Amino acid sequence: MFYITTAIDYTNGAPHIGHAYEKVLADVLARWHRMCGEETYFLTGVDQHGQKVQQKAEEAAIEPLEYAQQVTQKFTALWKRLDISYDGWAATSDPRHEKCVQRILTELRDKGCLYKKSYKGFYSVRQEQFLTDKERGEDGQFGSEWGEVIELEEENWYFNLTAHIPWLREYVTKHPEVVTPEFRRQDLLMAIDRSTNDLCISRPKNRLSWGIPLPFDPDFVTYVWFDALINYISFAGYASDGDASLPSFGKLWPAACEVIGKDILIPAHGIYWLCMLHAMGFPDEQMPRLLVHGWLNIKGEKMSKSLGNIVDPNDLCDLFGAEALRYYLARDTKTGYDSDYDPERLRMIYNSELANDLGNLANRSLNMCVRYCGGTLHTPSSDDEASAALRKSLDEAEKTFARQMDACNTADALGALNAHVSLCNGYIEQKQPWSLAKDPQKAEELQRVLYHLLESVSHVGFLLGCVLPEASTRLLDQLQVDANGLTPQSLAWGILKEGHQVQVPSPVFPRILTPEEKEKLAAKAAAKAGKNKA
Ligand code: MSP
Repeated sequence: MFYITTAIDYTNGAPHIGHAYEKVLADVLARWHRMCGEETYFLTGVDQHGQKVQQKAEEAAIEPLEYAQQVTQKFTALWKRLDISYDGWAATSDPRHEKCVQRILTELRDKGCLYKKSYKGFYSVRQEQFLTDKERGEDGQFGSEWGEVIELEEENWYFNLTAHIPWLREYVTKHPEVVTPEFRRQDLLMAIDRSTNDLCISRPKNRLSWGIPLPFDPDFVTYVWFDALINYISFAGYASDGDASLPSFGKLWPAACEVIGKDILIPAHGIYWLCMLHAMGFPDEQMPRLLVHGWLNIKGEKMSKSLGNIVDPNDLCDLFGAEALRYYLARDTKTGYDSDYDPERLRMIYNSELANDLGNLANRSLNMCVRYCGGTLHTPSSDDEASAALRKSLDEAEKTFARQMDACNTADALGALNAHVSLCNGYIEQKQPWSLAKDPQKAEELQRVLYHLLESVSHVGFLLGCVLPEASTRLLDQLQVDANGLTPQSLAWGILKEGHQVQVPSPVFPRILTPEEKEKLAAKAAAKAGKNKA
């Protein structure tokens, strides 16, 4: 079972391009594993509790749940638009989750892992956390990023995190697979060495009411991280007493891939989460694997409200189309590293790799097959050097694609397919099928060329299905290829059989025009309409 999850998104604002990037990355990986015939379960959702949601709801004069649900709808609408194929939806206000969190809290308290104590210190209202001297700037003050800072003394419940740190250090040291990429595991190891405090897991109800109450001390609610992290197991059926609306935990767990951003590896996932599981009694073999992606920035800067540079993925779907955005996010980001969102690159990559390279290859090859051979293909009965080289290139591209997808490197996987597509376009130029068609002596060579081109497009079109599900279906329809039963592993030369019939093509990847190109086109159309009237 390939159980893949993502971070759950805060419902205190609208989704942005960073959220979309994470979801597309996870979706591509989920689709890839499904395509390989692995049983796959993809869970994602929303993190609905916490101070910020409570504040926003107060401002809007509605209940926190109503506010959280309104924002949740923006996320679900976007995921539908982007064709995110999740199997399970984790919303932390779900009573099934609440029950699971409360059960875990009770068990941890009974085991002696939770204790209550009083703490006095500086507290950031905006970030909902106590501040230590580490958070002071060079001038000794707490910076403006913390918003209003007040002195506060309060009693709270704590998780004995530090008791689990020696185990965590050893576990992360001995298990390189726990964090991908490797350099993030090294960061985590350094952070583990600096971990000297237990984790406060509650907030007094009089300060924060929008959260899951502690079952053994109802004046407190659960700290938002403690609540949110548990979603990975609660919605996988952990301690659900066989609730049929949830999956079977034994089948799903441990998660093969929890996709998260670099900002929430330390301390949330790398330290709190693994220690929480350890405290609950999960053995080493039952620890999840974390895939840590970088940030999507805007011209090198972090997206933020104050900079006014937040990018709404809905606008990009309107402008470029959902699949163009999917391709860009999977192709122009190196998993694990930061990248810059740049609409010019989106247009350039789409136009060059999809509209020009693959789109033209498919369109030209299908058109030539229809025009020169009535749409019927014949398997070649002879060979030549260029065709053999093309087959070798396809084989290598497929192997690289699979290797890179397995390693979660969507960009390099797609790069390998594109390299093969470019080679196919070179093969067309070299072979000039339009000239071969004029010479009846060259009929066999023409068939060979068309066969090699269309077989290539069939393979590429199939594999692209995990990134561009809609375009892949359209391509395969035109090629009359049935993808049912195909897997990347069983994909071998010869999908197209003797006498295979293809359809008249229609372009699958229309060019994305610049605003100037659009204007020119509109002016041309207007002039033509004027002429027709006259
Ligand atoms: N609610 C927590 C996660 C709880 S998981 C148990 C949270 N939410 S978030 O909405 O702030 O972020 C959700 C995910 O989006 C995180 O993995 C975060 O790293 C990712 N991103 C948020 N902004 C991002 C970018 N600008 N670029 C890429 N991903 C980023 O954290």
